[in-house]
Amino acid sequence: MHRTPVARTLPDFPWDSLLEAKIRAQAHPDGIVDLSVGTPVDPVAPHIREALLSVADQPGYPTTHGTLALRTAAADALHRRYGVTGIDEAAVLPAIGTKELIAWLPRLLALGPGDTVVIPEFAYPTYEVGALLAGAEVIRSDGVFALGPQRVEMIYLNSPSNPTGRVLGVEHLRKVVEWARERGVIVVSDECYLGLGWDTDPVSLLDPRVCDGVFDGLLAVHSLSKTSNLASYRAGFVTGDSELIGDLLEVRKHAGMMVPLPIQAAAAAALSSDQHEAEQKKRYRHRRDVLRSAVEAAGFRIDHSEAGLYLWATRGEQASDTVAWLAQRGILVAPGHFYGPRGAKHVRIALTATDERIEAAAKRLAA
Ligand SMILES: Cc1ncc(COP(=O)(O)O)c(C=O)c1O
Repeated sequence: MHRTPVARTLPDFPWDSLLEAKIRAQAHPDGIVDLSVGTPVDPVAPHIREALLSVADQPGYPTTHGTLALRTAAADALHRRYGVTGIDEAAVLPAIGTKELIAWLPRLLALGPGDTVVIPEFAYPTYEVGALLAGAEVIRSDGVFALGPQRVEMIYLNSPSNPTGRVLGVEHLRKVVEWARERGVIVVSDECYLGLGWDTDPVSLLDPRVCDGVFDGLLAVHSLSKTSNLASYRAGFVTGDSELIGDLLEVRKHAGMMVPLPIQAAAAAALSSDQHEAEQKKRYRHRRDVLRSAVEAAGFRIDHSEAGLYLWATRGEQASDTVAWLAQRGILVAPGHFYGPRGAKHVRIALTATDERIEAAAKRLAA
């Protein structure tokens, strides 16, 4: 089917396989409740939209490194929101949404054939895609000590996890950092859901309790898509080890990977204020409470899910059967095997639907 080797190497795009279930769910008389993807549905805060418009008349190219205002806002936000100290604004690099960054990161850091990237057992699919685009090998593992003596170049952490909502504590993160430092391994922490802790407070890789304020070999990736409802804008950033960020900046300058200026202005506004983020978190907490009770009352077991935007749920049967059972009730979810072979009996249920749709799902589950 594919003409190029790189396209042949990549897995099929998982969501394409959900079409049949989607058609069945759409046939429900009261319409589909689509909980299969984590896409925001709530409005973009007015001050963010105003910031976008404020530079809409500027014709020149933006810089790859981003404006000083954006970089400073990112460093300040990590301090204010998550207690990360000591980030130099120069070591902040904007991304055109973090999916783009993750998909190209191994390649941008010159990993290639013969190199190995470790990704979580259950993982956002783009970690694997990024390694494959670089021609590197992928190993799935949640524990570094299970890896043995094998040489590894990069390891991904994702806490809170997509899809499981599992949170890694300070001790776990510290051990990974120590292990990686002894071996010169780059640790990349995808912190997309860091602000969405429900039963616990998630911790950044760059937290002083984890890394003692030393960022060597460490990168933290932050998306504005979920907590500031900016998925359509494509805004995120990476920070941490200043030398690695410097190398990434050089390559991204050559490759034209620059964030549009209006998006930079919007992102700076989003990172400079916390109120809209707190309000959004409240909305998600409410939806989680409603959905969690309904899913449990319908006989599911929910594992982990102490943070983030998903319920990781099982009925003890094959995920495809659960997807079909829910689709008959007009509810679309993602099967666990999208995220790793061991997810065969789980489904991932997103909290990203309107209050009205979440209530509709709860009613259908109770019927
Ligand atoms: C774990 C994780 N990382 C990164 C992303 C990408 O986010 P974005 O490209 O919108 O910044 C997502 C999106 O769902 C995600 O779940």
